[in-house]
Amino acid sequence: MKILAPKILAIESSCDETSCAIIDDKGTIDAHIIRSQIADHQKYAGVVPELAARKHLEICDILVEETLDNAHCSADDIYAIATTAGPGLIGSLLVGMMVGQAYAQAWQKPFYSINHLEAHALSPTLNSDITFPYLLLLVSGGHSEFIYVNGVGDYQRLGKTIDDAAGEAFDKAAKLLSLPYPGGPHIEQSAIKGNAAAYDLARPMRHRQGCDFSFSGLKSDLRRQIMHHQQSLNRQDINDYAASFQQAVCDIMVDRAKNAIVLCPQKPQYFVVAGGVAANQTIRTSLQKLANENDMLFHAPPIELCTDNAAMVAWAAQMRLKNGLDLSFHPARPRWALDELK
Ligand code: KG4
Ligand code: ZN
Repeated sequence: MKILAPKILAIESSCDETSCAIIDDKGTIDAHIIRSQIADHQKYAGVVPELAARKHLEICDILVEETLDNAHCSADDIYAIATTAGPGLIGSLLVGMMVGQAYAQAWQKPFYSINHLEAHALSPTLNSDITFPYLLLLVSGGHSEFIYVNGVGDYQRLGKTIDDAAGEAFDKAAKLLSLPYPGGPHIEQSAIKGNAAAYDLARPMRHRQGCDFSFSGLKSDLRRQIMHHQQSLNRQDINDYAASFQQAVCDIMVDRAKNAIVLCPQKPQYFVVAGGVAANQTIRTSLQKLANENDMLFHAPPIELCTDNAAMVAWAAQMRLKNGLDLSFHPARPRWALDELK
């Protein structure tokens, strides 16, 4: 018997967001909850893996129950359970996997291990008209990569960071400027009142072949210039450094994106940007301009689907199910490249 609109319940816990969602095969989101641990990690100015795992453990099963309540669903309404199996922080992943498997076993439902990068890669197609192939720039605290998304299960990574992720660079720069964690939004706010041409900061990899990124040289240059600053930084200095830093990141991204577009095996219609850094308005505007100059349409998913969330995990499971792709069990793993899914 064919099940009409099978619902999948998904769990995401690969980093510092605990999230649970229920979605049907059309992409209707019955319920979606995201709980961020930012407040717990703020005083350490970064995610502490051990703490993250403990915080997931405290709320993961409660979140599943809340999500079921919000969707007015019971076990009988759920077709399968999907959980992010990697890549990510191993302790955090294990919590989500354990909770997901426990529910699957208790309810006698199929259990699907989902690749977190595939979930990000397919998230732009959730509730939008975007068609394959598209070029995705995924920029967050953990990732900075260009992915050519040819179809479900068919991905080609065109380039990646060789050191820090873009969001990590924002966070480290914020720390150097004594701005709070996570740094991205604070740098953006501060930059509004700053002069982006005040400091000439390094733009590593610019004009190089390919579309790999490097951000650690930019951060080191910022640190060096701050150290050589004549007096202690005043408010305006901080704003000027923030604006100059943001401009450098922007220039690097546009330069790398130009090459990524050329490297696509087939000219995609869409340029999509996702991940926490995609919230940055200056970066969005620059990438949109580049996309338009290249006769491409620009798309950025709504922010709650752009950052880590369980809706994208449920949607990736739905897409694999619809396309008859492998959904067999994979244990939690900190590294799991997209190319391995082929
Ligand atoms: O996708 P995300 O919420 O979580 C993971 O990385 O898993 O991304 C968080 C990252 C942080 O490094 C944060 O500083 C950065 O995204 N971020 C931003 C902005 N908002 C968040 N970076 C630049 N500008 C922003 N407005
Ligand atoms: Zn992510």
